[in-house]
Amino acid sequence: MTVDIVIKNGLLVLPSGITEGSMVVDGGKIVGVVRSGEPSADRVIDATGKVVLPGMVDMHVHLRDPGFPERENFESGTRAAAAGGVTTVVDMPNTVPATVTVEAFKQKKGIAERKSLVDFAFIGGAGEVPTEDIVAVSEAGATAFKSFLIARFKELAASDYTLLRHMNTLSELDKPLLVHAENGNLVDMYMEEAKASGRTDPLAHCDFRPAIAEVEATMRCVTLAAETDVHLHICHISAAGAVDVVEWAQAMDQAVTGETSTNYLLFTRETMEERGPYAKVDPPLRGKDDQLRLWEALNDGTIDVLASDHAPYTREEKERGWENIFDAPSGGVVIETTLPLMLDAVNRDMISLERLVEVFSTNPAMMNGLYPKKGDIVLGADADLVVADMGKPFHIRGDDLQTIQKITPYEGMKGKGVPVITVVRGEIVYEYGQVVGKLGYGEFQRPI
Ligand code: DOR
Ligand code: ZN
Ligand code: ZN
Repeated sequence: MTVDIVIKNGLLVLPSGITEGSMVVDGGKIVGVVRSGEPSADRVIDATGKVVLPGMVDMHVHLRDPGFPERENFESGTRAAAAGGVTTVVDMPNTVPATVTVEAFKQKKGIAERKSLVDFAFIGGAGEVPTEDIVAVSEAGATAFKSFLIARFKELAASDYTLLRHMNTLSELDKPLLVHAENGNLVDMYMEEAKASGRTDPLAHCDFRPAIAEVEATMRCVTLAAETDVHLHICHISAAGAVDVVEWAQAMDQAVTGETSTNYLLFTRETMEERGPYAKVDPPLRGKDDQLRLWEALNDGTIDVLASDHAPYTREEKERGWENIFDAPSGGVVIETTLPLMLDAVNRDMISLERLVEVFSTNPAMMNGLYPKKGDIVLGADADLVVADMGKPFHIRGDDLQTIQKITPYEGMKGKGVPVITVVRGEIVYEYGQVVGKLGYGEFQRPI
């Protein structure tokens, strides 16, 4: 018997732990994990000295398509995903049109089917929309829904009443509600104060967007969610106080999970001075104590998900922020750098490789209903795999990225640990610096 691919002699990160062995891939699936006696294969990848991970499931990306293809689109964004070891992207609903109707959902699906190099799934929008639309978008295949407590995206912002209504609906549909937890009134009023103060320097973004806005909104969501059985997921946690709230809710046996990103794990508010608008995100970067708490929570299980929160804007849009930080939009080009930066963190003993796989692959796959097809190296699963070289140095430069905007908040940063091969359903989509995947190869993933 000749199979499609054998990945030979790697350190395999399996659910049962790390073990030396070879992976056998055929017909797009994982068909064997063996220590010896590999079958012959059309393609043999020598993984000696390298690690083999399940492909990353990035459950928080904004690929801007449809809406702002100059910021990013399904082709450029998934080329970047492939280069960054991400084999499934889960796209957020703040596209134009917002993903709040079946029509918008199908439009995005059509675009992604034509352009995507990796597999994709979608989050529906849960703003001021009728319950029927939530049900219909869920049936169309949304893996989860997202509400914003701030007014930044019109159709996606939900009042407390609406939030509770959606929580009831989603608890019946058995799908998670993801929230952007910042108190909209506090954010708006502090913005007025910021304008009155005359400050325009990068740190003003952090000074006028305090942690209490995040902590209060997180607490409010937890309180409302306790009335229902919904799985509440708090996106992009940046503040220690929000971790405390999540920890408390979990102690009360509530189904509450938390997520963070490399933005908050690797940067602090001081980073704003150096990187200015490129490091501007919402919620904003916080202090050293917050950062330490996030690492602790990511390791002890209070925070269960790492996601990139890839939220690209054009260089021009970002550059405006040097003059006045409030003129630059919030969000960074980060999908391609998240895995290398985290592998570097593994090398520096900040997190174990097993835990990294849990938070960046297994748990997001589970929460989005894609497990065990995605998210682990198990027999019968899709052969979504990453071969990574933990000793290989990297030097991040915007110009080298696959994204459409060649900018990065991590410009100039160096480390060790890079994905060298990415495999999606048994096809190599990225190999030693080259994206070799085909446009339209990516498949739509609905919850199993
Ligand atoms: O910084 C952010 N950018 N935070 C969000 O919640 C939205 C995102 C975006 O889409 O630009
Ligand atoms: Zn958000
Ligand atoms: Zn986001």
